[in-house]
Amino acid sequence: MVVRSPYAPVVTDLVFPEGFLWGAATAAHQVEGNNAASDWWDWERRPGTPCVDESGIAIDHYHRYPEDIAILAGLGLNAYRYSVEWARVEPDEGAIDARALDHYRRMTDAVRTAGLTPLVTLHHFTLPRWVAARGGWLDPATPARFARYCETVVRALGDRVDWYCTINEPGVVAFGGYLGALDFPPGTHDAGSWDRAIKGLVAGLRLSLAAVKGARPEARAGATHSMHEWEADEGGRPMMEFLRGRNEDVFLAACGGDDFVGVQTYTRVGVRLGTVTTGLLRAAMLAPWLWRRVAPPFIRRSTKNPAGSAPPGARLTDMGYEYRPEAVAATIRRVATLLPGKDIVVTEHGVATGDDAERVEFIDRGLRAIHAEIGAGAPVRGYVHWSAFDNFEWARGYGMRFGLVGVDRTTLERTVRPPARFPGEGASTGRLPDAPPPGSPERTASATNRG
Ligand code: BGC
Repeated sequence: MVVRSPYAPVVTDLVFPEGFLWGAATAAHQVEGNNAASDWWDWERRPGTPCVDESGIAIDHYHRYPEDIAILAGLGLNAYRYSVEWARVEPDEGAIDARALDHYRRMTDAVRTAGLTPLVTLHHFTLPRWVAARGGWLDPATPARFARYCETVVRALGDRVDWYCTINEPGVVAFGGYLGALDFPPGTHDAGSWDRAIKGLVAGLRLSLAAVKGARPEARAGATHSMHEWEADEGGRPMMEFLRGRNEDVFLAACGGDDFVGVQTYTRVGVRLGTVTTGLLRAAMLAPWLWRRVAPPFIRRSTKNPAGSAPPGARLTDMGYEYRPEAVAATIRRVATLLPGKDIVVTEHGVATGDDAERVEFIDRGLRAIHAEIGAGAPVRGYVHWSAFDNFEWARGYGMRFGLVGVDRTTLERTVRPPARFPGEGASTGRLPDAPPPGSPERTASATNRG
């Protein structure tokens, strides 16, 4: 059965603020290829790995960046967010690889020459193997080691870069890897590791901010946060608050000194619990030792079934969670409430789909929702789409297509998809562009949640 997308954008004239960043993003491990000194490289290869693919050559962005940057500039974008790989810069403790720093200098020069503002992420999920071997974020020495690497990179890039993203989605690193909820390394499963990873990441946020500002006071630095629009029924509220507190609030609270908050929102998550479960969880919450045993498996089970967090009958993305472009408005409002006046950059927003019409709709509805928040006073300075190119979606591998630009897995040939021109036009006109005509509005009913 085929379902037609009902979407027909209203033509309006929405003006965005002067200097608004219109960009697209990648992360080193997901695109560069052969990131062989990192923990993810090992994670993909270990016996019984949860990863469906190995990253391998990825999209060979490490070598093809000149072509890729030219494509992004050709789309009219004015910003490119990408990451520097710690495992390449410091493949062994204290051994800085000058060639890797040269590479990122050359790449950053190319980004600037193409007229794109670089937003450089210093940590996007991966660790050097030697850091992981010492316990990763569980090792109390990791935050200082990370800060030292940040300082090295910021000094090397000098005045080429004005925007730094310190740690990408610390909540996902802790929850996904140390609670084991997302099949990320190191794959520990207990509440104690989750706690310690959160503490390590909070320290890493503080020390890396100081390192970036110490090396280049003019730069704007901030962490980028995975944030959901949350919903709960009466019974689900305590669990929802617990999860939001541990995955988002604790990190936002640590970022009061950042120059901006990176908001990354993909969906809405509903926590709806039956009366029996609610009763049991509430009782367990009263006894911390019991809660620490009960909560991790409960949370991991719920995360394995993202469709279960969507309202019955909701439309889903290929990732299995709710298709909800406007969720980003809720997270912008939350940041504006928790950190009033702080600049916000939407550093990720996007959708895994094979349907270009659906991608256009996602961007259009997202930008309209963001525009309304700007109108209501939220200091949003930019929109960076995830992702610039199809890439390695972590444990989910290459099947997920998030790219404005498609990449053929056999030939690595790049194909600009129709939605790609959409945010780029925003950059040249400063206004919400007219959505391009739908390419292929079909999607199959198997991709929707029938509740
Ligand atoms: C991450 C990206 C990831 C994207 C889509 C974000 O959590 O920063 O690395 O590919 O979401 O799942």
